Amino acid sequence: MARNWTPDSWKSHEARHLPAYDDGQALESVEATLRSYPPLVFAGEARALKAELAEVARGQGFLIQGGDCAESFAEFHPNNIRDTFRVLLQMAVVLTFAGKLPVVKVGRMAGQFAKPRSAPTETKDGLTLPSYFGDNVNGIEFTPESRRNDPQRMVRAYSQAAATLNLLRAFAGGGYANLRQVHQWTLDFMGRSPWAEKFAETADRIGEALDFMEACGVDPATVPQLQGTSFYTSHEALLLPYEQAMTRQDSLTGEWYDTSAHMVWVGDRTRFEGSAHVEFARGIGNPLGLKCGPSLEPDVLLGLLDTLNPAREPGRITLISRFGHEKVESGLPRLVRAVAREGHPVVWSCDPMHGNVIKSESGFKTRPFDRILSEVRGFFAVHRAEGTHAGGIHIEMTGQDVTECTGGAIAITDEALGDRYHTHCDPRLNAAQSLELAFLLADMIRMETTDRQADAA
Ligand code: PEP
Ligand code: CO
Repeated sequence: MARNWTPDSWKSHEARHLPAYDDGQALESVEATLRSYPPLVFAGEARALKAELAEVARGQGFLIQGGDCAESFAEFHPNNIRDTFRVLLQMAVVLTFAGKLPVVKVGRMAGQFAKPRSAPTETKDGLTLPSYFGDNVNGIEFTPESRRNDPQRMVRAYSQAAATLNLLRAFAGGGYANLRQVHQWTLDFMGRSPWAEKFAETADRIGEALDFMEACGVDPATVPQLQGTSFYTSHEALLLPYEQAMTRQDSLTGEWYDTSAHMVWVGDRTRFEGSAHVEFARGIGNPLGLKCGPSLEPDVLLGLLDTLNPAREPGRITLISRFGHEKVESGLPRLVRAVAREGHPVVWSCDPMHGNVIKSESGFKTRPFDRILSEVRGFFAVHRAEGTHAGGIHIEMTGQDVTECTGGAIAITDEALGDRYHTHCDPRLNAAQSLELAFLLADMIRMETTDRQADAA
């Protein structure tokens, strides 16, 4: 267990991006309420995810982590949960087939509410108000009442996370995630899209593999594993009063776990040395993500790894690089080399979203699909050159047909962004763009596998 750590030891460290609450008593009462509520996940599940990630760190698997930039109270609907879950599963099937390796599935779901913001205030038509920090902190509407930080929102976020997780668990285990079914959705979806031809070969081969297995008597009816899947949840552990209230001591091991999600991560803006967020993360037993942007120096990263994973436990740390398409090939190698030199067992995952945000001519915040792809290609190229494993992808996406990122095979134009721009924070890939990314990732994963086989021969 971490030394000199308590669930509230973060309070004596520098905390950035935390809301100030004007009613301390109301905050304390909400914290007490949350402490009395059941954990959302069980420590044993967090350990199971860590074990799966340890395999990825060894090069024996791939991580796919995705979901909303910010979940919201307004978009809370079973269909949204279902559709995001479905697209993540479809992507996972394509990647499992390409890599012939297990794919670990983690949603940015059931708790991804709090957002760090670049500016503490926002000004519109001469009126300046606090920025929107996520639905568990304040409201997105630009009014003084809505922008006030309200601790009660944490209770609502908890209940939405609980209901979301409940549905995800039912989908994952209750037959909805049946492998044959998931592939059939991909075919149905492709049948309606103009880019089906480009990916028909991969899709056909997956279909043939399933037919072959069925002919051998291996199908969801006979092999229960094919009826379901393991699915985990994650979010940025930003809102520390909430995370602390959800942190419980595991009765089996005596270790502390943040039971708000299986995996939590520390964002690029809060991963500085001496940060309250790093202090909190170091004491919990969950698998952790750490965002790595262009300003992160290799020696600082090594210091963070020593703090967060002194025992060098594989599966404990996933490093999520987010450099932007122009910087990934020049910036990432230094970090990869330093980590490899020190022998830290990490999963390297690529977030091709957060370094590629631009303002479109029509005024919307967007991410061009070709820049996203270009960062993913750069990420794979760096790992190929360094002989390390490109282990995962971290994306902001939704199963809905939104128009938030430009480009893709069913090209979304700048002018079309306003049609269905629903995100509460950053622009997300829609269902078609997410699947297209999966097919392109499949090609890159295949290349890595071919390289490795050539090296081994
Ligand atoms: C995020 O993942 O939503 C985020 C804010 O990312 P980053 O910390 O990498 O900027
Ligand atoms: Co985001």
